[in-house]
Amino acid sequence: MLAIGDVHLETNLLLAPIAGHCDLAFRLVCRSLGGLGLTCTELLHPRGLLDESAGSLVLARIDEREHPVAMQLYGCDPALLADGAKWAVDHGADLVDLNMGCPVEKVTGRNGGAALLRSPRLARRIVETVRAAVDVPVTVKMRLGWDAGSLVAPGFARDFEKTGIDAVIVHGRTAEQRFSGHVDLVGIRHVVEATERIPVIGNGDIKSADDAQHMIDATGCAGIMIGRAAIGRPWIFRELHAELTGTALEPLTVRDKLLAIRQHVENMTTLRGERRALAVIRQRISRYGASLGHVKTLKETIRCAPNIETVLASLDVMIDDPVNSQRTIVHPGM
Ligand SMILES: Cc1cc2nc3c(=O)[nH]c(=O)nc-3n(C[C@H](O)[C@H](O)[C@H](O)COP(=O)(O)O)c2cc1C
Repeated sequence: MLAIGDVHLETNLLLAPIAGHCDLAFRLVCRSLGGLGLTCTELLHPRGLLDESAGSLVLARIDEREHPVAMQLYGCDPALLADGAKWAVDHGADLVDLNMGCPVEKVTGRNGGAALLRSPRLARRIVETVRAAVDVPVTVKMRLGWDAGSLVAPGFARDFEKTGIDAVIVHGRTAEQRFSGHVDLVGIRHVVEATERIPVIGNGDIKSADDAQHMIDATGCAGIMIGRAAIGRPWIFRELHAELTGTALEPLTVRDKLLAIRQHVENMTTLRGERRALAVIRQRISRYGASLGHVKTLKETIRCAPNIETVLASLDVMIDDPVNSQRTIVHPGM
């Protein structure tokens, strides 16, 4: 089974950090459904953590039930990132992940995220300084390079391995591509080939067990990180793990999925407050809807719901409908 440093993961499937989506409320739902090896917070700036700003504290929150979990940091100041890493460990992180993949201008404009792919010396210094600051495994999540003319990820990974990094996660696109085009599996394979011992986790566009198996076969990666496909299907880890390992699994019924969605709504209400929970579920119900069959009325009720009680009541009507204890729906992405 996959181990990152001395942290052993139950499966080789990881939930990607997705800012605005993969917060604690959602991560707990994915965890409870099974099949998931590691979760990660969204990218956090160490300044916000060290100042304990209200916004950072909410996003940095980790729960007993989700271990092992990584906290992801971004920035370009090695000493500040090292202090942030210590803060992360003191606040429950089992691993620290360094973001070298975010292509968003707000992050790269301040030399963080994927901009570090253009600054090998600084990137290395960051890794060395953070590595020396904490005793837990340290990982780097990166893209293949800044653009097609500078596919630096294999060289970076080799270099980072020498500095004592414990794993790299590679999204098989360049920063310039953002989310366009397809994931470059050859690019990921070059990262696997460049490293000697550390696991390389492949990432990008995985929606099904076939996609995952294809990425593993084509690249030799040790694990798979899934982001966008999990947003409407927190049960994807459970399903993919069973398929990839040939484990027989009772398919989830529509009722089981509705209960998971209800759990998400409850978690959000408790952790982030009713207003945010309502705003999020109004958007998310369309993504969830694709796995539930014909649920136009449910989607419309939730989109117009004036409060969380209405959302929960509309879910309960379907949860209590005996038909939904029998029905299983295969998502179109599977
Ligand atoms: C809205 C959005 C927010 C994201 N936030 C983060 C982030 O905070 N940290 C990070 O490393 N990657 C972030 N990513 C990138 C994902 O972790 C992942 O690398 C990417 O979506 C490709 O994987 P996927 O095809 O499985 O979604 C984000 C992606 C999206 C679409």
